[in-house]
Amino acid sequence: MELKQELIIVLDFGGQYNQLVARRVRESNVYCEIYSYKTPLEEIKKKNPKGIILTGGPDSCYLPDSATYSKELFELGVPVLGLCYGAQLMQHLLGGKVERASVREYGKIKLTVDKADSALFENVPKESIVWMSHTDYISKIGEGFEITSHSYDCPVASYENTAKNLYGIQFHPEVLHSEYGHVMLGNFIKNVCKCECNWKMDAFVENSIKAIKEKVGNGKVLCALSGGVDSSVAAVMLSKAVGENLTCVFVDHGLLRKNEGDEVEAVFGPNGNYKLNFIRVNAAERFYSKLAGVSEPEKKRKIIGEEFIRVFEEEAKKIGKVDFLVQGTIYPDVVESGLGGESVVIKSHHNVGGLPDYVDFKEIIEPLRDLFKDEVRKAGLELGIPKHLVFRQPFPGPGLGIRIIGEVTAEKVKIVQDADAIYREEIDKAGISQEINQYFAALTNMRSVGVMGDYRTYDYAIALRAVKTIDFMTAEAARLPWEVLEKVTNRIINEVDHVNRVLYDITSKPPGTIELE
Ligand code: XMP
Repeated sequence: MELKQELIIVLDFGGQYNQLVARRVRESNVYCEIYSYKTPLEEIKKKNPKGIILTGGPDSCYLPDSATYSKELFELGVPVLGLCYGAQLMQHLLGGKVERASVREYGKIKLTVDKADSALFENVPKESIVWMSHTDYISKIGEGFEITSHSYDCPVASYENTAKNLYGIQFHPEVLHSEYGHVMLGNFIKNVCKCECNWKMDAFVENSIKAIKEKVGNGKVLCALSGGVDSSVAAVMLSKAVGENLTCVFVDHGLLRKNEGDEVEAVFGPNGNYKLNFIRVNAAERFYSKLAGVSEPEKKRKIIGEEFIRVFEEEAKKIGKVDFLVQGTIYPDVVESGLGGESVVIKSHHNVGGLPDYVDFKEIIEPLRDLFKDEVRKAGLELGIPKHLVFRQPFPGPGLGIRIIGEVTAEKVKIVQDADAIYREEIDKAGISQEINQYFAALTNMRSVGVMGDYRTYDYAIALRAVKTIDFMTAEAARLPWEVLEKVTNRIINEVDHVNRVLYDITSKPPGTIELE
């Protein structure tokens, strides 16, 4: 059965918050797809969207080679909302004027609404804080448009042409710093696009399963299952789509948390609740020997990532012909690997970027590539995966390999596993695990002098990390109760050999990242 759903299209002009725009639309319960600004108008028309949102972008719309779009977009009779660059471009194309501002506006700015009865400003107060980030500004609006708000430095903070259902917002309503931004986007969706807002995660799951079925046909599918939230959700989704044609390979790379290999096998293996054709590969020695002597983080990530692919490839050959490889890549992985547009590579996540040429799979399937973590969890619940698995904290593909600063050895893995197990146990006992989004112990490569009994020690320092975050793109350190930190510290030093010091990392992201490497 074809699912009928309302669609909002986000036209991507290369800004950094574009996925956030899509996410906000989905939070209003309307399905949303992102297309490049290079997508022809005909294709957009065929999708029959209820509304179109033009995103921000790095260009200056009045310069010759800047990203642009056909003016006909504004004649379709479909409501259009331009954000930042999108708002400037709409004016540039429709008779307004965009110029370089003498003052670059950046950060939290006070917005004053001039037209309180604008459809965009229902339930928005006359004054509120919004997030601005622009160098160009709209100095004059085209005929038929009306200014609906301003800020101190920005005469046109928003505008509208109600007859044509065209709207523009110079600031970024999609970021949380814009106090009423989500209300404004919701207003556009409900008041202007007239959406009924009945899209839910079950529709996403159902559509994804249908799309995977169509794509895969009778092909064989191999899934990289780590036991983490993302790959588990991807695996279960695939098993619903292709049944027996799915094989899940779980690589125990020796960089898992304490006892994790056995735990994953208990849930997803032959004695568990799922039919995944589960294969466990114990490859610790293989990974350790590849990692011997390597201390540079990117190099470690590359080695672990490549070894993973090699292991899969070998398993795939044993199965016979494999056409598709499934991975649980989610959106933050994509952005931070520099694939989300203009952004630079922060870390190369080993499960992102497609397969190198020399690998023998026809195609990669990443059903969660457009979702943020909390959305993946919702999808997991829709798929009937038990809560305790769905709400597990995330664990990165390269595992403890990136929680051990410097060279990875079997001995260091054991230290960090034991310390981490104690940390997790005490957080659980304190009943605060659900308040923290990710927490773990890492091994600093630092050794320092201590005293134990009457002896001098010269041992490692463990770093404890605990962060609060919604989407893992930004995060702040959790304020753990002192008694918990004290207890964990005492236990680690007493129970874990070769550790004589415990540090608590209070760095936020940015400037830090959540993992240490
Ligand atoms: P960072 O350290 O980049 O982490 O702030 C953001 C989130 O992503 C996880 N992470 C990874 N996940 N492969 C993954 O599957 C990776 O290579 C990887 N590196 C980091 C990290 O645990 C956090 O949740």
